[in-house]
Amino acid sequence: MNKTITLTMLALLVSGCGKSMSRDEKDKDKPGYQEAKTFCSQCHSLPFGDQHPPAAWPDVVARMEGYMQSSKRMMPNQIQREAIITYFQNDK
Ligand code: HEC
Repeated sequence: MNKTITLTMLALLVSGCGKSMSRDEKDKDKPGYQEAKTFCSQCHSLPFGDQHPPAAWPDVVARMEGYMQSSKRMMPNQIQREAIITYFQNDK
């Protein structure tokens, strides 16, 4: 492969990144994202914050913890739960 082709491919690769950034790339450093991913994708894909108004997220998470408990999945501790709620409240 010659140098021009390699550089062209590299440019395409880099320019493509901004358009289709994965959620992992976009959110990996946001508070609570790793916790949300760990606990909230055990049964279904990770939901988006705009599915509920901020004030509703604590109740959604509490309902989900009921499911986690009855199906013996990993449960978040109190600090992790707060981080998860914060993540969804700010994921707009
Ligand atoms: C033990 C399995 C399980 C885990 C883990 C789980 N969920 Fe769910 N989730 C369900 C089930 C079952 C439903 C469908 C029934 C319902 O909506 O109550 C659902 C539905 C949902 C919905 C759509 C319904 C609605 O109220 O909007 C959202 C949003 C959601 N889950 C968020 C979460 C979040 C946030 C977490 C992490 C804290 C989580 N889930 C973890 C089982 C789970």
